[in-house]
Amino acid sequence: MNAKQMAGYEAATYVKDGMTVGIGTGSTAHFLIEKLGQRVAEEGLDIRCVSTSIESTEYAESLGIPLLDTNDALELDICIDGVDEVDPAFNGIKGGGGALFREKVVAMSAKYNIWICDDSKLVQKIGAFGLPIEVSPFGYKHVVRKLEEAGFVPKLRMKGKDIYMTNNHNYILDTNYDNTKFCTDYKAMERFLKGMLGIVETGFFLNTTDLIISAGSEVITTIKNPNK
Ligand code: 5RP
Repeated sequence: MNAKQMAGYEAATYVKDGMTVGIGTGSTAHFLIEKLGQRVAEEGLDIRCVSTSIESTEYAESLGIPLLDTNDALELDICIDGVDEVDPAFNGIKGGGGALFREKVVAMSAKYNIWICDDSKLVQKIGAFGLPIEVSPFGYKHVVRKLEEAGFVPKLRMKGKDIYMTNNHNYILDTNYDNTKFCTDYKAMERFLKGMLGIVETGFFLNTTDLIISAGSEVITTIKNPNK
């Protein structure tokens, strides 16, 4: 079993009969969904899930996992998702898979959040790969210009020769923030970005998770967030 599979399978043990469950997106969440599908089929695990992407919806449906729309499940018992980077203060960046907006909506509706990852995602400082920022296609170049004026370096995400499009039909700007005035004040940076017309959501997930389940080649580590 590889590390992502170990983390995903371990997280599936936190899901109990009767729960409503947010299911994340990405290669680690894939293993969570796989295990939940097995448990539904083999144990008759009685759950209802809310998905964070078309990709996860299709996979969950193929495994017979019952799904709800997020608008019909305003409070979830638990949400389990992957993460791109997380620092020791539980500041996370998500959106490598482009699902950040739906992931944030679902995470915010859950009473308890778990992130699953391999150990490479645990870093001292977040931001090495750039912050994914979801923007409206209409007028996105205005956003690019305003970001650049503030010292950010946004890069439009591509998929081959085409512009990458999120499930919400928006674009993503993978954005370096090393030379902005915000340094590591992620809360202030988030406020600044969210105040900008055209920005739909950022990949900052600051102090949102309750627990991290991280796996190495052999060992699974669980880290509780002391601030939650
Ligand atoms: C998708 C995400 C994913 O959770 C994140 O990119 C981690 O993915 P993976 O488990 O494939 O490493 O935020 O938008």
